[in-house]
Amino acid sequence: MYKEHIIQQMKEVFKELPFGIEHTLKVLKNAEDIVEGEHIGDSERALISLIAILHDIGAVEAKRKYGSIEGVYQEKEGPLVAKAILEKEGLNPKDIERICYVIGHHHTPSMIDGLDFQIQWESDLLENLTVMDKQKDYQKIKKCIDENFKTTTGKEIAYKRFLE
Ligand SMILES: [Fe+2]
Repeated sequence: MYKEHIIQQMKEVFKELPFGIEHTLKVLKNAEDIVEGEHIGDSERALISLIAILHDIGAVEAKRKYGSIEGVYQEKEGPLVAKAILEKEGLNPKDIERICYVIGHHHTPSMIDGLDFQIQWESDLLENLTVMDKQKDYQKIKKCIDENFKTTTGKEIAYKRFLE
């Protein structure tokens, strides 16, 4: 329901960092593929899409404030930027809080505390593995997939994409 509107706002925020838009849309596609395969219900589905759309939204503010888009700065700045967008859309406070929690910890797998966060982690990792894939270190990639992927669909996508 809010999705297209929030995608527009994500694009607006990322206009100085266009690779952010491209990356975000790929992560969103991964998340939606995993959600589809895992037969997740509609409300959870919508929440997971919003997490994906906004997960890196702190990057622009991080770059402005610290001159770096390192994960730790993105995690720090992302929740406030996301909250402003989601409040303007009239999303309920409980969902806003959950989305902001995941955004604020999305580079920290030890903080994963639910399927929504797990799917975000896998969706982002599928893109980060693409970088690793270029080095063609299959042993390393397989280990990474086995250690990080918990959903059947996410694992299947990762195996097909990187190990076949
Ligand atoms: Fe990301």
